[in-house]
Amino acid sequence: MVRLVGIAGSLRRGSYNRALLRAATELMPPGAELKVLSIDEVPLYNADNEHELGIPEPVAALKRGIETAAGLVLVTPEYNGGMPGVLKNAIDWISRPPEDIPRVLRGKAVALMGATPGGFGTAFSQVGWLHVLRTLRMTVWVEQGPFYVSRAAESFGESGLEDVELRERLRKYLAAFVDHVGR
Ligand code: FNR
Repeated sequence: MVRLVGIAGSLRRGSYNRALLRAATELMPPGAELKVLSIDEVPLYNADNEHELGIPEPVAALKRGIETAAGLVLVTPEYNGGMPGVLKNAIDWISRPPEDIPRVLRGKAVALMGATPGGFGTAFSQVGWLHVLRTLRMTVWVEQGPFYVSRAAESFGESGLEDVELRERLRKYLAAFVDHVGR
């Protein structure tokens, strides 16, 4: 069984990026599973709190989830041409303390995707993530090219990701990523 974890970088109930991650859990190939990890309870990073109180439990849970997974699916919105603060904040916490980076993050395969109501598919945000993930020595999977969802309002409905072609594209993308991390 190939076990992946996924994180969506929006706290919004009706988030397209959360819905994209939910769809991904449904479209995994046989012999693989994708577990959704939540950043909803991650506090704002504060070094004083880290030193006085240690790593908060929601962050420890994220670290355990990533450490034991074969790969990470990072589903990122785009805010002002970059990554959203809530997701960067979560990754910053996950990178603490630095002694844990080799165990939790280094070499971990990451599949990036993102959805936006706009026309550029979160491309700027995803490019921003490349630098952050490289700094953490994570391995961004690029074989299948970027997974962008533009004009999200046209593809998502009451039941989530409804666009049949997009679901098929997502199914193939996930199968290729599972194949990559399983090799
Ligand atoms: C946005 N949005 C946005 N979209 C985009 O494609 N490029 C951008 O630079 C921005 N900038 C931006 C800034 C701020 C502060 C907000 C609140 C929004 C729109 C954004 O893609 C939209 O709100 C999505 O619905 C956010 O993702 P979720 O919450 O649907 O997952």
